Amino acid sequence: MVVTLEDLPKPKEEATVKVEVTPEQALVSNPQTILMKVFRYNPKAKGEEARMVTYRVPMSKGLTVLDALLWVKENLDNGLAFRYSCRMGICGSCGMLINGKPMLGCETQIAELGTDVVEVGPLTNYEVIRDVATDFTDFFSHHTKVKPYLIRKENGEGKPIEKELPQTEEQKLEYYQFTMCIMCGLCDAACPIVGMDPEYLGPQALAQAYRFAIDSRDQGWPERSEVVDSPHGCFRCELAGSCSAVCPKGVDPAMGVQLLKRLVVHRKLRRA
Ligand code: SF4
Ligand code: SF4
Ligand code: FES
Repeated sequence: MVVTLEDLPKPKEEATVKVEVTPEQALVSNPQTILMKVFRYNPKAKGEEARMVTYRVPMSKGLTVLDALLWVKENLDNGLAFRYSCRMGICGSCGMLINGKPMLGCETQIAELGTDVVEVGPLTNYEVIRDVATDFTDFFSHHTKVKPYLIRKENGEGKPIEKELPQTEEQKLEYYQFTMCIMCGLCDAACPIVGMDPEYLGPQALAQAYRFAIDSRDQGWPERSEVVDSPHGCFRCELAGSCSAVCPKGVDPAMGVQLLKRLVVHRKLRRA
């Protein structure tokens, strides 16, 4: 059974893990500490309930939420599960709920949060694999469904495109911002429609559908439009805008979805 954060009963509090800062740690970092309250749950462990475990972590200048979790894993609790790779806001792996908001762990400095206790949990709208790590299978499958690549008659049978396809600056600007997407999935975690309808393609996939549909080199509208103009496609969006508010890369997926709706209507009318 799929278990997302929303399905679980409110996690129980657990006692603070009382490991004090060692003299060595105090030397390399500010002796001050912060508390990290982290969601722990393993759906595969029979009878295990979701709980919040609090860890005391030494604070230092520039410490990110991901650094703090890595410190916990190295020093206090090596069973803690979370995902990361690049540690520089590029790979999109470290999405998590930080103080209730979908954010990237590696790009979020604890000092900027302005709280002494930092709450960390798995992204909403995703199945919990363990602790803070969530399952992105549906997210990637939605992304694949919109055919996120250029479709040309020349490469329809896997043949390479042989000649250059130049574009004007204006043509590039039509889709440029959507190329900044790092597929972190924060927008889908913030979208109320994804929460209600797991088959809804979601802001990430729909914004990428627009990115390719508006590219002057693309000829894939007939097949792509069937996917985006479906019962779980762009017209499911209710323009709450919460997707764009959490995007760490300044992409505006909500606008992408609205532009895609306009494109669907426009191209339908043109055909009529
Ligand atoms: S649109 Fe923004 S929030 Fe959504 S997956 Fe791309 S980078 Fe992440
Ligand atoms: S604007 Fe649309 S896609 Fe974005 S959060 Fe709202 S309903 Fe979801
Ligand atoms: S670890 Fe790659 S984006 Fe955070």
